[in-house]
Amino acid sequence: MSYNATNEGTARYKIRFKNTLAQEHFREAHGLWMSTIGFGSYLGNYDDVTDIKYRNAVINAVELGCNKIDTAINYRFQRSERSIGAALEILFEEGKISRDEIVIATKGGYIPFDGAPPRDIRAYFIETFIKPGIAQPEDIVGGSHCMAPNYIENQLERSLKNLRLQCIDIYYLHNPEEQLGKVSREEFHKRIRAAFELLERKVSEGKISMYGTATWNGYRQDKNSAGYLSLEELANIAKWVAGESHHFKVIQLPYNLAMPEALTVKNQSVDGEITSVLEAARRLGVTVIASSSLLQSQLSRNLPDFIGECLKGFETDAQRALQFVRSTPGITTALVGMSDLNHVKENMKVAQTPPASAEEFIKLFSDEG
Ligand SMILES: NC(=O)c1ccc[n+]([C@@H]2O[C@H](COP(=O)([O-])OP(=O)(O)OC[C@H]3O[C@@H](n4cnc5c(N)ncnc54)[C@H](OP(=O)(O)O)[C@@H]3O)[C@@H](O)[C@H]2O)c1
Repeated sequence: MSYNATNEGTARYKIRFKNTLAQEHFREAHGLWMSTIGFGSYLGNYDDVTDIKYRNAVINAVELGCNKIDTAINYRFQRSERSIGAALEILFEEGKISRDEIVIATKGGYIPFDGAPPRDIRAYFIETFIKPGIAQPEDIVGGSHCMAPNYIENQLERSLKNLRLQCIDIYYLHNPEEQLGKVSREEFHKRIRAAFELLERKVSEGKISMYGTATWNGYRQDKNSAGYLSLEELANIAKWVAGESHHFKVIQLPYNLAMPEALTVKNQSVDGEITSVLEAARRLGVTVIASSSLLQSQLSRNLPDFIGECLKGFETDAQRALQFVRSTPGITTALVGMSDLNHVKENMKVAQTPPASAEEFIKLFSDEG
């Protein structure tokens, strides 16, 4: 029995859809076949109704060809992880999928509440994290973010429990750039190095398969911004920690029709050559996952007509917006938050079509487009 996603398992999942979905809907990254549409779980109320909606939406999405699930411990105060855990248990028990077929990612860094905001936030922080020695006050930045090794280790254990898993396939440090500007870059690099050391240890213990950074502004900003992240610098820290066979293998960043910076802005450099983060990631062997593919639903309506003329064959703007993201060279998966079953159905329909060819994609950026 496998405790994580494997090449054999994800290939088996892919083949199951050979008559119903485009086989190009799955892409291989680090030996795993990942669906080009991934399940996101950020938004929504912290209540039982939304828990059940998410649980059912995960089951439905997996049945329709989504084997990439994304969450974070702080999403809906740990409720998103718990809803996904409940869904996975049903999927496994009913024999609909096995653990080795599905790629599960979560994140740690933001200090999470437990199901609902506590009455006294300060007392909750002190009792839950400071008194047991899980985090030291000086490790906490802006009252909400921490990536000290003890703390991340504790969060990973909680995530494993919430998700009802023995191993998480991708573990991200959540928005580490949050700490830049509040601590010096030198101190930031020290903290990243300590976190990467912990995460490499967790790989060898079999608790995670690989790790990375899930970000918001970090990789999209100007080089001179306080919160700027250099992918090459982070990859070098991983190499310093674990050599060439390090497990810093995935990054996540927002990318969509309204936020195309990962493709269009040359704010990174690799071996002295200036380039975009997508190209830098390719050269450094890092997989890129796109978040916020619909700009939190804003791109599901009123898209300009030329987008439909370039990305043909779709019924809705949400589908076109997803097609844009999953067709971008260098993006492995377009994550979309979907707790509504109708949204799951509509979004997963895109998987029946292969991602756009390079010619179709380039037309979007041309004058005729
Ligand atoms: N820094 C980070 O690490 C970071 C930041 C942002 C996001 N993320 C990840 O990326 C995922 C996706 O981003 P996101 O959830 O913020 O934004 P998103 O995927 O752009 O949008 C999600 C919203 O769109 C709605 N929606 C989904 N499909 C739709 C459709 N076909 N038509 C109309 N509305 C639709 C959803 O509603 P329903 O829920 O009602 O279906 C939800 O409100 C997140 O869930 C999270 O896993 C990571």
